[in-house]
Amino acid sequence: MKSTGFTSDFIEQLKYKNDIVSTLSKYISLKRMGNNYWACCPFHNEKTPSFCIKEDGQFYHCFGCGESGDVIKFVQKYENVDFVTAVSMLAKSAGMEMPNIADSEELQKKKKQRDKMLDILKDTNEFYLDYYKSEKSKIYQDYVTQRKIGSDEVEAFKIGASPDYNSLIKFLRKKGYSDEDMILSGVAGQNDTGIYDNQGTRLTFPIMNGYGDIVGFTARDISGTSHAKYKNTPQTTLFNKSQIIYGLHNLREQKKAGELKFVIIVEGQIDVIACYGKGYKNTVACMGTALTTHHARELHRLCENVVLCLDNDSAGKNATYKAIEILREEKLNVKVCRLYEAKDPDEFIKKFGQKAFEVTLENSVSGIDFILADLLKNYDLTKNDDKTKYVSEALSFISNVDSPAEQEIYLSTLRDTVNMPIDILRASMKNKAVNFITSKPTSENLSEYAFSNQIQNAKIFVLASILYNKPYANINDVKEYFYEENEITELYNYLRDKKQNSKNIVITNLFDEFMIEKNSDLNKIINYNFELLNIVEKEYYAGCLKTLKIDNLNKQKNELKDKLKTAKDNAQIFEYLSEIKNIDSEILKERL
Ligand code: UTP
Ligand code: MN
Repeated sequence: MKSTGFTSDFIEQLKYKNDIVSTLSKYISLKRMGNNYWACCPFHNEKTPSFCIKEDGQFYHCFGCGESGDVIKFVQKYENVDFVTAVSMLAKSAGMEMPNIADSEELQKKKKQRDKMLDILKDTNEFYLDYYKSEKSKIYQDYVTQRKIGSDEVEAFKIGASPDYNSLIKFLRKKGYSDEDMILSGVAGQNDTGIYDNQGTRLTFPIMNGYGDIVGFTARDISGTSHAKYKNTPQTTLFNKSQIIYGLHNLREQKKAGELKFVIIVEGQIDVIACYGKGYKNTVACMGTALTTHHARELHRLCENVVLCLDNDSAGKNATYKAIEILREEKLNVKVCRLYEAKDPDEFIKKFGQKAFEVTLENSVSGIDFILADLLKNYDLTKNDDKTKYVSEALSFISNVDSPAEQEIYLSTLRDTVNMPIDILRASMKNKAVNFITSKPTSENLSEYAFSNQIQNAKIFVLASILYNKPYANINDVKEYFYEENEITELYNYLRDKKQNSKNIVITNLFDEFMIEKNSDLNKIINYNFELLNIVEKEYYAGCLKTLKIDNLNKQKNELKDKLKTAKDNAQIFEYLSEIKNIDSEILKERL
């Protein structure tokens, strides 16, 4: 969650005195329709209004571009200023005095806490480095050698190792740190038996922010026995997986030296290290999460040219599609580099060497060219039906390109591919309406919808119903479905906490508590359009719960199947099998 430096009382007062409708009407012209106000979105080009202002929730949402936020975020975006400046502008217009945040006690306390966390993380890394260099670390050193990571890279990326679950804790206690602070900084975890090293018995890679401060770790299992290959630091105030860019400080150094021409985005941290080892110090990765708008903006500050070089599998391809969209929205020039005969850059470089990688990089194609070529694989252009479908899909991508000149280039590529007059392509493109709102189920396909693999949609609907206090939704009934480490679970925990303490949920406050990115699940939840649901909400809710319940049952079943593989004797096998049978009949019951 975010911390702004202002007290929540102050921010609440500020928003109260700057009512969203009257404030926004100073900037754009609003029209009342039903309960809401509508306007043409100031953040993208449009002729018909899709920018909606909700007076009761005190927030806005654009159904066209997905932008949404509270009155502060609006001023920030519209005036292109930072948070504090937006707050001071609003304070001025409401005649409120700005608190002196630089001297506020709360801020001082936060700064001290932050410094202590950074110290713990730094000392932890020293400890791992020392252990890695010791004789006892031979298995780790051998592993690193076998992965062809050279000593320069070990040094540059500060690779270390953790001996066990205990020694780090002892070391940090001796330095005077409290257990509580170790947990807070993310280096240690806690269970029934006590506090332990979160990176215990793993090869350790510190994660550094843009300034080279260590803010967390990722740690690899080298024994092959853990189900989690990598273990990351849990979310802390310093470490937010959806914001961290691995390798960012290398980019900064390159930028300072005036050497940064483009940035290579890869999927794994090991890929970053492998590329660095071959002279590509301009390589970064996300922390096992999808690329976010936040990442894109951070990169844009340093360089506008990026090359996506993600894994060569279907997950990597899907991620490439999404990343192209996000990066282009943030006005970056995107190219795509496709690796053949290797699953990732690390393997590619190992198999074919640096020269081949260089050539492959040079052969990168623009993001849209990649999409057009990739879509083509689904169609047989000798069939008219396929050709029409392909043209239609291709045009929907081209129509989203902002620059008319660039559009023309892609239109002529398409013309050459499908052999159709460019005027016809241009005309069909103009007729294409872009469908931004995700399709909602109808009563006919409810059962199919509810039982298909729509886990995420179900979670989104459940949380939206809870957030909007729908009478059929009860937060205490759904706890077991929110366990994964992600923003949806964070929102669930937040809502539960509020409800348990019988506090009102003020929607506009969510924008202070969470980073709400365009197109994110949080954004979908807050802006859930119940009116578009053309079936009874309560029925749909029940369908969602079924979906989630079945998903959990399937997960349990898979765990049992795994256990079955290593079962020791017949009695155990029998036990697992009968448990599986029970789960099967429960699933069947749910499906009825
Ligand atoms: P990969 O499985 O592609 O990692 O996952 P990799 O870099 O090729 O790993 P090696 O080569 O086997 O060591 C890509 C990224 O997904 C995240 C990590 O950030 C990893 O770099 N990940 C993967 C996890 O967080 N946990 C996992 O268990 C696996
Ligand atoms: Mn990989």
